Amino acid sequence: MIKEQLRKLIAEKDATIGVIGLGYVGLPLIVEFALKGFKGIGFEVDAKKVDDINAGRSYIVDVSNENVKKCVDGGGLAATTDFRKLIDCDVVVICVPTPLRKTKDPDMSYIIAAGEEIQKYMRPGQLVILESTTYPGTTDEVLQPMFEMKGFKLDEDVLLAFSPERVDPGNPQFQTHNIPKVVGGVTKDSTEIASFLYSQIVENVHSVSSARVAEACKLWENTFRAINIGMANEMAKVCNALGIDTWEVVRAAATKPFGFMAFYPGPGIGGHCIPLDPHYLSWKARQHGFDSQFISLAEQINSGMPAYVVKLVSTALNDVKKAVNGSKVLVLGVAYKKDIDDMRESPALSIIDLLRSRGADLVYHDPFVPEVTFDHAYTIGDGEPLLNTELTDDLIKNSDCVIICTDHSNVDYTRVCELAPLIVDTRNALSEDVRNGSKAKIVRL
Ligand SMILES: NC(=O)c1ccc[n+]([C@@H]2O[C@H](COP(=O)([O-])OP(=O)(O)OC[C@H]3O[C@@H](n4cnc5c(N)ncnc54)[C@H](O)[C@@H]3O)[C@@H](O)[C@H]2O)c1
Repeated sequence: MIKEQLRKLIAEKDATIGVIGLGYVGLPLIVEFALKGFKGIGFEVDAKKVDDINAGRSYIVDVSNENVKKCVDGGGLAATTDFRKLIDCDVVVICVPTPLRKTKDPDMSYIIAAGEEIQKYMRPGQLVILESTTYPGTTDEVLQPMFEMKGFKLDEDVLLAFSPERVDPGNPQFQTHNIPKVVGGVTKDSTEIASFLYSQIVENVHSVSSARVAEACKLWENTFRAINIGMANEMAKVCNALGIDTWEVVRAAATKPFGFMAFYPGPGIGGHCIPLDPHYLSWKARQHGFDSQFISLAEQINSGMPAYVVKLVSTALNDVKKAVNGSKVLVLGVAYKKDIDDMRESPALSIIDLLRSRGADLVYHDPFVPEVTFDHAYTIGDGEPLLNTELTDDLIKNSDCVIICTDHSNVDYTRVCELAPLIVDTRNALSEDVRNGSKAKIVRL
């Protein structure tokens, strides 16, 4: 029986784990399995990533070169572009991207491409788990029919489950092993074996009754964040209009030990999750005749933040008798959040683009991001790529305005405050002490 076979293979660490897509989610996952003694095969379409892994090099901040090298040298990890090796895997985990189309509808092409490769090389005895964030119903509406079309029956030949990934890149406190894992199978046996598998690498596994519940759980979590960040952004605008310090208000509210959870305003939302995932939920809800107004409103507020920041910059320059047109603007931090290199959906891209479209002379400094490129389909400015600039005293001094878009830890904000004439701080990166000792004009969100 498949369930017992797989349980034995997993318990004895004889199961070979295939992971399709070795990005922010897939690489930490396969390394975790390999470190626990499983044999991992990583499937990637990007040959450069395959070469890096096989040479013992990591390209993801949370995964050390040392761990990749240890796993590769010990024979526990190999990467490949050859999907025929899927036949060697007892478990296949799909960690491919789930972007949006330009119409903001789910782009399922990566999941389907991965599903088609699995379908080609599938054999009885395999457990397939989808980890990519997606709308409720994907696992049983999209993947299950692909496998059944091949004549495989769930529980008899194969098992199928969904388990959302909650990894928070750059978070040193919570990593794969200590983030509780939600698991929902399409069948009971699938839930049981997928949960047993994750219990080998994760301290706390929470099983749910179906793949759909697990899919919806992930979207609930990220929609909760998108809506609460939207509310924090709205409150920042309200506080600004009333001349009240937003950050002091939220700090005070956060002292309430129950019924309040602090979310912070910022220049907009970024990354592969929060700006995208709620659209997966609202799209699916619309298919069933329901229009989610909270999601639309949060999207409207959050996506309007870069323009709001540009308004703050333009007003601040105006106050010192300068125009955006021709001003030298230094954007400090361009990654979508602190201490990582991820530029996906970063609000800094829109801020730079908007300011360049109004004639600002733009440079940026980000210790994690060597180059910024723009998608011409979305730009209104010239869309020319930018290279990272060294944060010299002259650069800071000669900038008409410094915009802190990302509050990376390894930037000397005291020096920035000592030298810059005008700073727009969208992240509350400048502490009260630093601000008090500064001659700069400082505008905060
Ligand atoms: N990044 C996060 O913090 C995070 C957190 C939770 C969930 N997720 C979800 O996990 C999924 C993966 O996200 P990510 O951040 O790891 O993306 P990523 O872009 O970093 O990695 C995806 C990898 O898949 C590869 N790939 C694409 N198509 C492939 C195919 N057909 N076969 C093999 N490899 C293929 C890409 O080359 C890339 O290396 C998404 O659904 C995302 O929403 C991401």
